[in-house]
Amino acid sequence: MAFAYAAFFLLVICIYKPASAHQNSSTLIGLGSSISTNVQPTSWRSPSGTFAFGFYPQGSGFIVGIWLVYKPADIITWTAFRDDPPVPSNATLELTVNGKLLLRTYYANNEAGEEKLIANIEKSASGARMFDSGNLVLYNENSDVIWESFSFPTDTLLGGQHLSEGGELISSASTTNSSTGRFHLKMQIDGNLVLYPIDTIDTSVDAYWNTATFDSSVTNLYLNYTGDLLILSNDSNITVFSSNSTSESSLIIYRATLEYNGIFRLYSHNFDSNGAYTASLMHYRPQYPCNVKSFCGLNSYCTMNGNQPCCSCLPGTVFVNPNQGNNGCKRNFTEELCKVAEETSSYKITDMEKMSWDDFPYSSNSMSEEDCRKSCLQDCNCAGALYESGDCMKVKFPVKYAKRLADDSSKVFFKVGLKSIERSSNRSIATAMNPPVVQKKSEKRVVLICIMSVAFITCSSIAIAVSGFFISRTRAVKARMRMGSGNLGLAHELTLRAFSFQEVQLCYWAYELLVARELDKLDLSVDVDLETFEKMVMVGIWCIQDEPGIRPSMKSVVSMLEGNTGVSVPPNPTSASASTSA
Ligand SMILES: *[C@@H]1O[C@H](CO)[C@@H](O)[C@H](O)[C@H]1NC(C)=O
Ligand SMILES: *[C@@H]1O[C@H](CO)[C@@H](O)[C@H](O)[C@H]1NC(C)=O
Ligand SMILES: *[C@@H]1O[C@H](CO)[C@@H](O)[C@H](O)[C@H]1NC(C)=O
Ligand SMILES: *[C@@H]1O[C@H](CO)[C@@H](O)[C@H](O)[C@H]1NC(C)=O
Ligand SMILES: *[C@@H]1O[C@H](CO)[C@@H](O)[C@H](O)[C@H]1NC(C)=O
Ligand SMILES: *[C@@H]1O[C@H](CO)[C@@H](O)[C@H](O)[C@H]1NC(C)=O
Ligand SMILES: *[C@@H]1O[C@H](CO)[C@@H](O)[C@H](O)[C@H]1NC(C)=O
Ligand SMILES: *[C@@H]1O[C@H](CO)[C@@H](O)[C@H](O)[C@H]1NC(C)=O
Ligand SMILES: *[C@@H]1O[C@H](CO)[C@@H](O)[C@H](O)[C@H]1NC(C)=O
Repeated sequence: MAFAYAAFFLLVICIYKPASAHQNSSTLIGLGSSISTNVQPTSWRSPSGTFAFGFYPQGSGFIVGIWLVYKPADIITWTAFRDDPPVPSNATLELTVNGKLLLRTYYANNEAGEEKLIANIEKSASGARMFDSGNLVLYNENSDVIWESFSFPTDTLLGGQHLSEGGELISSASTTNSSTGRFHLKMQIDGNLVLYPIDTIDTSVDAYWNTATFDSSVTNLYLNYTGDLLILSNDSNITVFSSNSTSESSLIIYRATLEYNGIFRLYSHNFDSNGAYTASLMHYRPQYPCNVKSFCGLNSYCTMNGNQPCCSCLPGTVFVNPNQGNNGCKRNFTEELCKVAEETSSYKITDMEKMSWDDFPYSSNSMSEEDCRKSCLQDCNCAGALYESGDCMKVKFPVKYAKRLADDSSKVFFKVGLKSIERSSNRSIATAMNPPVVQKKSEKRVVLICIMSVAFITCSSIAIAVSGFFISRTRAVKARMRMGSGNLGLAHELTLRAFSFQEVQLCYWAYELLVARELDKLDLSVDVDLETFEKMVMVGIWCIQDEPGIRPSMKSVVSMLEGNTGVSVPPNPTSASASTSA
């Protein structure tokens, strides 16, 4: 199966022609050519000078990439090794005499330097060309294309470039940093083109824009030379963005970029005969920046301040990084061990109007407003409740997709703790960084460690009830492609299968000891901090809950272990007996 996919990919890549019509004029880069960071020129230009390939200054050094030569600032359209640190100012790019495109970085005391292949190809190239379309192409001795930058898009598609079925554009970290950022655009194999935040499992709950086009014979996304963005399929082509332009012009460059802020924009760049430039924004999605999910990060919400999006923290939370408003917020109160429903004196409910979120509720019932407040206050799992048309929809911490809308009739009730985080758990924050090392081979202990480690796999992808239509096929492929971190149901099954019947019984026993606060009965070695250990067991048990909707996300697990989030006592891991937990 994997082979079939690989073969198909190769086929798709080979079918693409590098460029056509007038945009096919190119500069030859012959074998043995090289450029360097400290000798001009530091790049190879396309014939018209529109695009350049080479070293581009960024941060403290240079990145290797392709850019549109532009005023007032160049526009980077492709980056090699985007997540590596910038190369220092003693590096060369070389198409070697034996046909390898090589980046060599020299450091003091290392004459040979460090080498990296820009184009990962098995055969040798006989030459390379930099095209006026912005494509860098390597050829073999028969002039067949063996590699091209257009086949490995980063955050941008240029006129004449395809994004293959299953492929994605990933935004950059910022306008001055080309590293992997926070959003991606996927050309799904179900024919739908979808925008998601990164670090989600890409369900319809996570999507913030899609074309709602479904066609299983889709082959790729294509930005053509007249600026139309098309989903190409064997049956029929679908126009995503139309340019109204009918004739090609060498003076216009079309560019579709997923920008650092999660907005997908299509531009045309026009060059007039005097060498002046004008850029016009032809299309962009979504229309409102606050509709970009997780634009503000966790536990935060977006509002418009004039025409600028602005992030604020939800009640009971403060910015993780006060200098970076879109990095999310964390709780500033300590979560009490929530054993019994009556323990409500350490929390209060804060109301917010015109507030909404897209998080999937773990519980949804119709009731009065007052009952909804009370229900959240008395529920250990409840971080807040969205109240809309008589329905009380409760969500867990952290809240991912909150937003405030001027015309919204919904209301939100937040549960806010009264006990400040600074005044209490100083000790647990320090110890959580050094998880206990249990060396003795007591069966009980081994089992508990298993619970915790396997639980992490389980937690790495949380199953939200899936409406299916976005992801049915994507998920199947993803499960195949990312074995291990993919499908939750699978991981959960493996978790339980990894344990014998006896061991499963031991898990439940551990749970009972935990609830009775008698974990010390496991006669742990003296150097283990009981509080930390208790916390890890709780996190572990949260993660092996039978009921997928209750399991926390990886982010919350990390947050709990780091002490940023309190950990409440989980329900009994078997859902059948969940109600007897306290
Ligand atoms: C561009 O391609 C066309 C047809 O593919 C060809 O006729 C033309 O000569 C090419 N131009 C250059 C400069 O290579
Ligand atoms: C660029 O962004 C990445 C990812 O956010 C970060 O790790 C890296 O330090 C940043 N680089 C610079 C030069 O700021
Ligand atoms: C830069 O690299 C060259 C080799 O190309 C080497 O001779 C020189 O010493 C290096 N300079 C520094 C400052 O590392
Ligand atoms: C599209 O058609 C080609 C040629 O008929 C075929 O090889 C390919 O598998 C088809 N692709 C899809 C996704 O149906
Ligand atoms: C681009 O696509 C549009 C819509 O399908 C089509 O009308 C136009 O002719 C295409 N342009 C080129 C250069 O193929
Ligand atoms: C879809 O568009 C491509 C590229 O513009 C074209 O070659 C192909 O014939 C079109 N297919 C259909 C079914 O219109
Ligand atoms: C294309 O034409 C339509 C109808 O005239 C117009 O609404 C649309 O804004 C135009 N698109 C662009 C990108 O100019
Ligand atoms: C948390 O921070 C908010 C806003 O700064 C503040 O009003 C609240 O009192 C703090 N809560 C605690 C428990 O410290
Ligand atoms: C934790 O408490 C100790 C004293 O109990 C104090 O010296 C230390 O500064 C505190 N650490 C933090 C991070 O508050």
